[in-house]
Amino acid sequence: MTSEEPTASGGGSAGKTESPEFDTSVAHQARVYDYLLGGKDNYAADRAAAEAWLKVNPDTVFTVLENRAFLGRAVRYLTAEAGIRQFLDIGTGIPTAGNTHHVAQAIAPESRVVYVDYDPIVLAHARALLTSRGAGTTEYIHADLRDTSAILGQARELLDFTQPVAITLIAILHAIPDSDDPHAIVASLLDAVPPGSYLAISHMGSDLLAAETLQEMQDVGKRMSQQQYSYRSRGEVARFFDGTDLVEPGLVPVHEWRPEPGTDDTRNTFIWSAVGRKR
Ligand SMILES: C[S@@+](CC[C@H](N)C(=O)[O-])C[C@H]1O[C@@H](n2cnc3c(N)ncnc32)[C@H](O)[C@@H]1O
Repeated sequence: MTSEEPTASGGGSAGKTESPEFDTSVAHQARVYDYLLGGKDNYAADRAAAEAWLKVNPDTVFTVLENRAFLGRAVRYLTAEAGIRQFLDIGTGIPTAGNTHHVAQAIAPESRVVYVDYDPIVLAHARALLTSRGAGTTEYIHADLRDTSAILGQARELLDFTQPVAITLIAILHAIPDSDDPHAIVASLLDAVPPGSYLAISHMGSDLLAAETLQEMQDVGKRMSQQQYSYRSRGEVARFFDGTDLVEPGLVPVHEWRPEPGTDDTRNTFIWSAVGRKR
């Protein structure tokens, strides 16, 4: 589908999509992240949770900004160096500067981007994402990452799955508990795309935080947030990339993944990141 004008959502819910309730009295991941990025689409509970995290770990804003910068660098790499023209971006977040289609279509205007999120506030803002001009396309699917058949069923109508696709799961998998088997979810997404496709992931690292800080951050999450987070170790994050070859520099904290020349900030981030190419 080619959109000359901003189009309405091409998505719609299917299957067992389980959106978090639109409850402004508890923090939501999308809105807390928006606040930490300096956005305006957040409520008092989101701001309180973000401020509580900042108190426990002052590196939180730096980490979140670096995560967003990783998204930009990864999509730039995938478009400019790997030649990818199709993106399945799951865990889109509230639209802000430097969304996947902005980055990809600035390099290759024909790029097609399908966004997926399950939060009602992202759905409400989805129109802002659907602004491709000319040859490119953006579409939005309102669905839960755990419902891979609904996502793949709808994405197949928008992307050509005989050609390489980049699946981007940026700062979303830590919202999937072990009981929902996130590794099987990623494996089923990777199964659906041909060799030469790519997987980009960023994920909060249990081993990138001091034990006490990790505990305090988990406590804040349990107390204040509607969604719970599963921090994972480097080894657990590496397993998501089974069946792929990692591109340089491999699996590293977000700020170390192909940083722009001249970046010399000495602060640390607590999110692992990597890009892998499907064998
Ligand atoms: C922290 S934001 C990341 C936004 C963007 N990927 C980035 O890194 O800048 C995570 C997003 O994942 C979404 N999300 C969390 N769990 C999800 C699920 N099970 N299915 C779909 N989306 C989910 C949240 O609603 C939120 O918008």
